[in-house]
Amino acid sequence: MEILGTGSYLPERVISNDDLSKIVETNDEWIVSRTGIKQRRISDGETTSQMAAKAALEALNDAGVKPEEVELILLATMTGDEAMPNTACKVQQVINAVNATCLDISAACTGFVFALNTANAYLSSGMYQNALVIGADTVSKVINWSDRGTCVLFGDGAGAAFVKANSEKAYVSMTGSDGAQGDVLQAGKISLSNLLMQGEVSVEPDDYYMTMNGQKVFQFAVRKVPEVVRQVVEKAGVSMDEIDYFLLHQANVRIIASVAKRLGVPVEKMPVNLDKYGNTSAASVAILLNEVRREGKLKKGSKVVIAGFGGGLTWGASYIEL
Ligand code: COA
Repeated sequence: MEILGTGSYLPERVISNDDLSKIVETNDEWIVSRTGIKQRRISDGETTSQMAAKAALEALNDAGVKPEEVELILLATMTGDEAMPNTACKVQQVINAVNATCLDISAACTGFVFALNTANAYLSSGMYQNALVIGADTVSKVINWSDRGTCVLFGDGAGAAFVKANSEKAYVSMTGSDGAQGDVLQAGKISLSNLLMQGEVSVEPDDYYMTMNGQKVFQFAVRKVPEVVRQVVEKAGVSMDEIDYFLLHQANVRIIASVAKRLGVPVEKMPVNLDKYGNTSAASVAILLNEVRREGKLKKGSKVVIAGFGGGLTWGASYIEL
C-alpha cells in the first residue's frame, strides 16, 4: 500500500488554556506542565462529516485524484454525526465520491491506525484498488465542560490519507485490544433510545459525557506504545535507527517523551503538534502525518512508524514506507 496524498482540517475557533481557566478551576501552568497542551481548536457547529470532508478533499487534491475515482471510504470516528447513515456516507455525499463504498470504524484514538490497517487488508486482497482513509472527531460533543480532568485535554479536527495498492511498498502493523479495561475511558454510555426505552427521565453527566481514569491511561500508554512499536519494527525487519519519524498519537507530551526514552530514540524523531490542537482522538495521527509531509520532512522512501492508543482499550502501530 502506498500513501499518495494527505490532508487535514482544524476548526477556526481557538480555545486557549486561559479561556478554559474561566470555566473550570485550572491554569495555563498546570495544563502546559502536565500535558504540553497550550490551546485546542473547537468546532463552532461544524460536524464530524463536514470536517472530514474538508480533510478528504485536501488529500485527494494532494494525490491528484478525482472524487469519483475513490473506491473505498473508511472513516474512523467515535463522534459520528448520527447513528445512521454512517458518517463516511455523509462524507461521500459532500465530496461526490459516487463510486465509493463507505463505512465507519470505531476505535477511539487508535481509529486512524485501525482504519489504515483495514484499508491495507482490503487493498491486499484485491477487493479495492484505492481508499480514502479519514480520522475525524468532534470530541467537544462528548466533553463534560465542567470536568477539569478531561476538558483541558481534547480538541476537534480531521485528517485524511489517500492510499493505493502497491505491493512494492511495505506496510506492516501490530495491534491489540483489552475490552476488560473499557471503563478506563468511556463516553456516551447512554443513548437517547436507551432513555426512551427505559422511560428514564434524568441523566447524570457521566452517563453521556467522557469519563477517564487519567493515571491508568497514562500507565497503559507508556507501557503499550513502546512495546507495540518495538514489535512492529522487528516484524518489518528494520532497525529502530532506520526509522525517520515516529508519528505518535498526540495525547500528552510526557507520554511521547517517555516512549522515546523507553525506545532509546531521540525525541526529535517524534514530532509534536498537541501544543496547538490538544488530543484530537482519531484525527491526531492523520493530522500529524499531513503536517510532517507538508513541512517537507518526508520523501519517497522515508520510513515512518505511526502509533495510536486509546479507549477500548485499543492500541496499534504500523510501519509505512513512503
Ligand atoms: N487543572 C488543575 N488541576 C487539575 C486539573 C486541571 N485541569 N486536572 C486535575 N487536576 C488536579 C487533580 O484534581 C489533582 O488534585 P488533587 O491532588 O488535589 O486531587 C491533581 O491535579 C493531580 O491530578 P493527577 O490526576 O494526579 O495528575 P496527573 O499528573 O496524573 O495528570 C493527566 C493528569 C490527565 C494530565 C494525566 O494523567 C494524563 O495525561 N493521563 C493520560 C490521559 C490521556 O491521554 N487520555 C487520552 C488517551 S487517548
